[in-house]
Amino acid sequence: MNTLNTKFDFESIAERYDRCNHLLSFGIDHLWRREVIQTLNPKIQQRVLDICTGTGDLAFAFLRHSHSKDVTGLDISKVMIGLAQEKQNRLASKPWIKNKNVRWQVADATKTGLESKSFDFITCAFGIRNIPDRTAVLKEMFRLLKPNGKLCVLEFSLPSNPLLRTIYRLYLNYIMPAAGKLLFGSKEPLKYLARSVHHWHTEVNFVREMSDSGFTLIRKVPLTGGIVTLWLAGK
Ligand SMILES: C[S@@+](CC[C@H](N)C(=O)[O-])C[C@H]1O[C@@H](n2cnc3c(N)ncnc32)[C@H](O)[C@@H]1O
Repeated sequence: MNTLNTKFDFESIAERYDRCNHLLSFGIDHLWRREVIQTLNPKIQQRVLDICTGTGDLAFAFLRHSHSKDVTGLDISKVMIGLAQEKQNRLASKPWIKNKNVRWQVADATKTGLESKSFDFITCAFGIRNIPDRTAVLKEMFRLLKPNGKLCVLEFSLPSNPLLRTIYRLYLNYIMPAAGKLLFGSKEPLKYLARSVHHWHTEVNFVREMSDSGFTLIRKVPLTGGIVTLWLAGK
């Protein structure tokens, strides 16, 4: 398995993570999350697990825009999960969050300790690229899904159109790190993003890795000209 030999400490940027996400994606990140919800379209009794949930934006999007009443957000970072919990407290009076079963769990996605075959859907947005042992996380997701359950992954990718790819590379390699310096006081978080996206796009055969872990690819959809890809796979 190809791995990127640099791990990134997300806790160091947790407090400013949301603002940075929305600013640098020009707010399009909401549309990518909505695409995941529309793709899976969970029914009222179906259980969703969002792995690498960060501050929980995708988990909240399920609560707000889908019928599912049972959503779990899991992340290895206690700080990120703490921020998700704070967000839930702030949103507690909203009608779309009341009477829903929301759980937050601090755990490593490679060994969650959750019950086998207990989720209808598992999602992972912009997380799997950062986990060195993808085989372990894919096996764990396979274990947690019910038979016929679905996995939906969002990851950054590079546009196939050569002009768009060149423009996007300039944005990723130069503009984003400069913006990162302003937002985080360091270029490193967004330099890491550029390195890891390049590695993921050029070195990783994710379809093969999913298939080796037992998943069947249902579809692979480029979003926003291919700067993000949605992968849908079944158990
Ligand atoms: C780029 S953030 C994505 C957050 C969120 N899904 C989003 O779309 O904004 C990646 C997250 O993956 C988490 N993460 C990294 N390695 C992990 C692991 N082994 N198990 C669980 N979470 C992990 C990090 O703590 C971080 O919150």
